[in-house]
Amino acid sequence: MPRKLFVTTALPYANGAFHIGHIMEYIQADIWVRFQRMQVDEDGLPREVHFVGADDAHGAPIMLKAEAEGVTPEHLIKRISDERPKYLKGFHIEFDNWHSTHSPENTALSQDVFRRLKTAGLIYSKPVEQFYDPVKGMYLADRYLKGECPNCGAKDQYGDACENCSSVYAATALKNPYSTLSGAKPVLKTSDHFFFKLSDPECKAFVRQWLEKPDRLQSQVVNKAKEWLDGEGDKALADWDISRDPPYFGIRVPDIAEEKYLYVWLDAPIGYLASLKNYCAKKGLDFEKTLNECEQIHFIGKDIIYFHTLFWPAMLKFAGAPYKEPDHVYVHGFIGVSGEKMSKSRGTGIDPLRYLELGMNPEWLRYYIAAKLNGAVEDIDFNPDDFVARVNSDLIGKYINIASRAAGFLSKRFGGLLASEIDSESGVKEKLKQLTDDLAASKNEIGELYEAREFGKALRKVMAFADEANLFVDETKPWELAKHHDKERELHEVCTACINLFRVLTIYLKPVLPKLARDVETFLNVPPLSWRDADSLLLNHKIGNYKHLMTRVEEKQLDALFGIESVPQVNAPQRHAEKQQHAAKELSVSDGMISIDDFNKLDLRVAKIVKAEHVEGADKLLKLTLDLGDSTRTVFAGIKSAYDPAKLEGQLAVVVANLAPRKMKFGVSEGMVLAASGEGPGIFLISPGSGAQPGMRIK
Ligand code: 2FM
Ligand code: ZN
Repeated sequence: MPRKLFVTTALPYANGAFHIGHIMEYIQADIWVRFQRMQVDEDGLPREVHFVGADDAHGAPIMLKAEAEGVTPEHLIKRISDERPKYLKGFHIEFDNWHSTHSPENTALSQDVFRRLKTAGLIYSKPVEQFYDPVKGMYLADRYLKGECPNCGAKDQYGDACENCSSVYAATALKNPYSTLSGAKPVLKTSDHFFFKLSDPECKAFVRQWLEKPDRLQSQVVNKAKEWLDGEGDKALADWDISRDPPYFGIRVPDIAEEKYLYVWLDAPIGYLASLKNYCAKKGLDFEKTLNECEQIHFIGKDIIYFHTLFWPAMLKFAGAPYKEPDHVYVHGFIGVSGEKMSKSRGTGIDPLRYLELGMNPEWLRYYIAAKLNGAVEDIDFNPDDFVARVNSDLIGKYINIASRAAGFLSKRFGGLLASEIDSESGVKEKLKQLTDDLAASKNEIGELYEAREFGKALRKVMAFADEANLFVDETKPWELAKHHDKERELHEVCTACINLFRVLTIYLKPVLPKLARDVETFLNVPPLSWRDADSLLLNHKIGNYKHLMTRVEEKQLDALFGIESVPQVNAPQRHAEKQQHAAKELSVSDGMISIDDFNKLDLRVAKIVKAEHVEGADKLLKLTLDLGDSTRTVFAGIKSAYDPAKLEGQLAVVVANLAPRKMKFGVSEGMVLAASGEGPGIFLISPGSGAQPGMRIK
């Protein structure tokens, strides 16, 4: 049977743009998928791969973020999902389908899985005492609770795990808890929750056997998962709480009258299947058959091993056919920015959109990330100097160089036609034969490295060949041969040899550099290159005109990427001042920055709060009547948890005066007052210094 693959990457939460960590994971999976697609199986057909993603759209954070923005969660997740293609296309990440967990497919599949697990006797319900925010009117997920770690005493730790000592605990174990939403002291309240019986002996036995299958998982991952599985005492594997009470943005628990929702982490991985199902419907494929025939492979980050190696295989196994447990879960580490130099002087990291908007070549980043990746769960570092060196010396200096050294002679002297054979007496033949034989013989080895996600090793091998190919050019000296008429044939063969070496190197780089490979295919005038093309030579074939294939990366592009120039430099040398001007232009268009014109669009005014009132039925809002000098406005502000209305009257505030009026449940809000808030408790109104008068413009 030819190999068929169903490949996913972790589903990103639909409450924010992609960051470099997402892009790294997608690049890793995309390279692996592109490598698979270049394989032709024994039946002569290209390997079938279905590569899907989706937005992880449910859960409290998305609900709360939408609420804070005054929009519906549906509106928020649509806005986020509309931004996805820009990034994916930008970095040549080619999913076959991008879907959402907030979809009919996911609702049906998640409820189906729930029902089957219930029938299998693995779901039960029991009362749970949980923290409840009396101000906000909702049960608090662990991330909205902070307090002192019950294990090490570290302050301000979240309700599920300690970032300081890595211990995992129940939120109720936190000492001195507070709600991060309102700052209120939470109260304990009880409601019924559904649980998945992960601790069931049959379930644990299955997970153990699943984990132990040779070559399924990386050894670090097996060890980590087994630690959790075999935990004892207070570390013993607990059953999994899989329901949430309203308000919640999610999928309803089926077959019960009461309003309860499936926990987002139950429906999120099912979103992999929902995306595949949605894709199958679009392609006219049978979903169940496809699922059944394919190896199921998930690429994820090391932070979500727990969900993917314990719950997920168990859920799938006990839900029964057509569901089946994953064949592989491939885990990667995090990407960071290098050392102190990077974090201090180069700003806050790499914004992928800014990278693209600066016109930086996405394949530079693909190459750099690939060169750093291996098959282990290791963090990788983005180092700007290293980035410049690798791109310029490897890609341009070694690889591209081979083509550019030969292409000119071929088009000028031989009308672009490659020699029909390579058999001159000069030794070219032997050298070439040895090189091409070595290169072709490495096909399997390099292939195995790609298969094992050892991209760094694969690329080092490719670049070692590029070195040898350059040495071949240095030794055979086509520029010398070109001076002698009697060396015409040798020149032709040397250049033909170069193009052939370049072609095989291109095959091996194609998973990483898909756009460049397409350009090379056009230049070589050949159909899309597949892996087995490395076995053959291109002879007596007319190639196209060589156009420059890739430019070098410049250091100043890295400076702009990390925003060095956006910080005014005191006593900076002239060079810096110039760079700053140059960058200022570029930065005005990049992500996260606005121009002064954009800022001037805001009409910020000093306002006097003349009246502040409670709003009947509103938990968070106060109704403010504001004096703006020449007009009076009504504004609803979400500051009830922090301010006593009586004390606000007479105070000055800052209002966005040209915000379009918004119709809210309790009336029309004609502006917005500015306030500060952070992770911890408290909301703080912004007020102008004393002496400011109502109506004054704030600039
Ligand atoms: O950690 C995260 O970003 C989750 N949104 C990943 C979900 S992966 C899968 F389960 F959907
Ligand atoms: Zn701790």
